Amino acid sequence: MAKEQCSQFFLAFLRKRKTLICLYVVLAAWVGLFGVFNAYLLKVLIDRLSGSLGGFRDLIAPLLILLVNSEFHNMSWRGINLVCLKLIPPIKSEMTRDLFDRAHQKPYPFFQKRLSGAIAQDVAIITDAFERTIGNIGIRFIRGGAQLIASLILMGSIHLGYSLLFLSWMFCFATVSVLVSKKVRAYSREIARTQSEISGQIVDSFSAAKEVKLFGGAAAESNRLDRFLKRWRYAYKQKGSFFLKFYLLQGCSITCLIFAMTFLLIKQHLVGLVTTGDFVYILSSTFLLTEMIWANTELIDQFNEQMGRCAQSLSHLLKVENENCLENLKEGIVKKGEISFESIVFSYKPDHPLFEGESLRIAGGEKVGIVGRSGAGKSTLIHLLLGFYSLDKGRITIDGQDVASICRESLYQSVAVVSQNPALFQRSLLENIRFSNQMASDEKVLEAARLAGLDLQDALDINASELSGGERQRVAIARAILKNAPILILDEPTSQLDAITEYEVKASLYRLMEGKTTIAITHYLSTLSEMDRIIVLDQGKIIEEGTHVDLLRKNGKYADLWKAQVGNSFLVTQ
Ligand SMILES: Nc1ncnc2c1ncn2[C@@H]1O[C@H](COP(=O)(O)OP(=O)(O)O)[C@@H](O)[C@H]1O
Ligand SMILES: [Mg+2]
Repeated sequence: MAKEQCSQFFLAFLRKRKTLICLYVVLAAWVGLFGVFNAYLLKVLIDRLSGSLGGFRDLIAPLLILLVNSEFHNMSWRGINLVCLKLIPPIKSEMTRDLFDRAHQKPYPFFQKRLSGAIAQDVAIITDAFERTIGNIGIRFIRGGAQLIASLILMGSIHLGYSLLFLSWMFCFATVSVLVSKKVRAYSREIARTQSEISGQIVDSFSAAKEVKLFGGAAAESNRLDRFLKRWRYAYKQKGSFFLKFYLLQGCSITCLIFAMTFLLIKQHLVGLVTTGDFVYILSSTFLLTEMIWANTELIDQFNEQMGRCAQSLSHLLKVENENCLENLKEGIVKKGEISFESIVFSYKPDHPLFEGESLRIAGGEKVGIVGRSGAGKSTLIHLLLGFYSLDKGRITIDGQDVASICRESLYQSVAVVSQNPALFQRSLLENIRFSNQMASDEKVLEAARLAGLDLQDALDINASELSGGERQRVAIARAILKNAPILILDEPTSQLDAITEYEVKASLYRLMEGKTTIAITHYLSTLSEMDRIIVLDQGKIIEEGTHVDLLRKNGKYADLWKAQVGNSFLVTQ
């Protein structure tokens, strides 16, 4: 199954290059055949030298053929190098791009569940498996196959018995190899699994490098890695000791074959049935073929391991999630930006529902603030609106269109999100802001930066990694300003700003909200005072609803939160 999945994926790229593939197969087979012909020419030379036939003139032809043949052999190898050069780089880059695009088409939870380093590693494993298969394993299999067929024919032409003897040995050798291959695969799988655990641990540890340093955790991390290394060492040792015994058995079978061949050859040579040349040819072919078959058996193991790892990585990336603009999902058209949550039921874990039939209508252009304690479900509500997760029951609509039936690209075109921890690319600030609207002019980008409170006109070329938390958040706000989408979502947009900057940015946020349907989540309740409506969420339930003043008068949960933030005195003055 694993092999088929990988082969099909590789074939999809190879199919477009049939001529090069044919050339590759022919050249690889040639390389195998030339080795065999050379050995046969050696036999002819020995026979002629041994004096049974003519003088030096008889040697000229086989000598010339030997020379030409050797040069052809060299040329064929260079031909293979050239074909690989024409095949590998273009296909590898096409494949990388294809996998990169596929990963980006995955829904957001895919990236939450897997470390980004692990996804990058999946891409590398697949493309490396392709390179190794084409650049090495494929050539050796084809070359070996051609070598085997030609040698057996030539051996048979001298005496059929030698070919039959060799075939019988090969049959036994192959049968035993197939019988043990299941066990070998299990060992290989275990090694692949422990290896991927190790890389996962390394990526995980390096992504929290700052914490490791600050908490003095380097030694603990090292010890933790050692536990995984120990498991890998054990798996490796198990496979190694199994192979040691198996190779010992295989080696003995080769010794027996060579002994039988030599015995027969001496016997027939003594009675004049085989010439000295035949003797040398058959024995050297036996050495060549047993060596090749043994090496190729090892290669099958390597091939299976490559394909196993490749299939595992492919299974993460190839599963199709129908959330793009395919036939079954239509493009959404958002004009008013009216949002409606209709009796939504949702749970992350079975039997632990977060939302149990909640409803909420937000009119087009309305500005709604959502408050509530940490873990109340505020971010989840936004993630459901953005279609990151599927609802268990109920539906969410934008301008009457069910979010589940709109393709994601068109949904995201209508929404601008400013989140708590915006991700920035390791690129210039200008590029980072422009990311939300690639067509925007420099002036527009600078204007958006200014409106977001980023006073960095001279420093727009600085790298985003040099920014503080607050500056990063302002980049996210600038992106939303530049995107100018009809729906605006703010999930703790000012959480990393100090009070003064927050006050300054608040003005640009309100300007940003103008004419847009806005959902704003924030702990800074003062940011929400001018919202049309405030919703208080608690454990997935809407417990209070109204304007800032209404809710203060009600003296409920919102008033408690307000008191906790600004103190009683402020409340009295309201
Ligand atoms: N990806 C997730 N998988 C499982 N549980 C989650 C996930 N995201 C959030 N939760 C849980 O859902 C609840 C609501 O989380 P969230 O919506 O982030 O709350 P808020 O934004 O109000 O702080 C929390 O108990 C949180 O632990
Ligand atoms: Mg949250």
